[in-house]
Amino acid sequence: VGVGGWASLSTLVLSLLSVITCVARIYFTSFHFAGHEIRITEAIDCYGAVVWPSALVLCYFLENNSKQYNLVDKNVIEIGAGTGLVSIVASLLGALVTATDLPELLGNLQHNVFRNTKMKCKHQPHVKELSWGVDLEKNFPRSSCHFDYIMAADVVYHHPFLDELLLTFDHLCKNDTVILWAMRFRLEKENQFVGRFQTLFNLEVLSDFPSLNITLYKAMRKSRMTARPSKLMV
Ligand SMILES: C[S@@+](CC[C@H](N)C(=O)[O-])C[C@H]1O[C@@H](n2cnc3c(N)ncnc32)[C@H](O)[C@@H]1O
Repeated sequence: VGVGGWASLSTLVLSLLSVITCVARIYFTSFHFAGHEIRITEAIDCYGAVVWPSALVLCYFLENNSKQYNLVDKNVIEIGAGTGLVSIVASLLGALVTATDLPELLGNLQHNVFRNTKMKCKHQPHVKELSWGVDLEKNFPRSSCHFDYIMAADVVYHHPFLDELLLTFDHLCKNDTVILWAMRFRLEKENQFVGRFQTLFNLEVLSDFPSLNITLYKAMRKSRMTARPSKLMV
């Protein structure tokens, strides 16, 4: 093999190696909810690429409380959807779902949502970019967007967007919107978000899993008269 031949051979080997590495970093995990096997593609290289325990808590709740929280034909948005499990379960339970996350997460999110809902759901879910606090009025105008439910699993942790997260809940939530939020408690600084959240929303504990440090909350907007404006500071 000439010099050029070795060069292309080594390029081929390098590309092959990168494909193998890439394949090795991707996992499939199966879950069972709402009468379906749900296959989720996960990776290990970012927060949104694995299914977090809070998502399982929320899915379990949705499945087991589908009479009280009947999602059929309801408009649902999930923020920080990650791999999409919660959005998929809400879709399988009959909701019209918009699954959102950062742009770099949308490829895998779309893949999981599409593969697990195609021909199985009353309403085909949408996948859309929603970076917290960014272009909210442009992409989700208050005048035309009405969500019956906002769902969020494990969106509070050590990241610099807690102000923007609160703004996003505030923007998307109408007076009759129900927020279902599974919160994993970690460090004190992030945990204080709950207090700030309560300046705008009434909070009710739906279930508590002390061994996992996870609490599932239901929240609704406080009436404008009683809400204290948040300083939007962490
Ligand atoms: C810990 S993961 C939880 C993922 C999923 N909800 C679950 O429970 O499996 C946090 C999610 O929030 C998303 N996220 C973080 N910062 C964000 C931001 N500024 N705007 C929108 N999404 C964000 C991440 O991309 C990730 O999908």
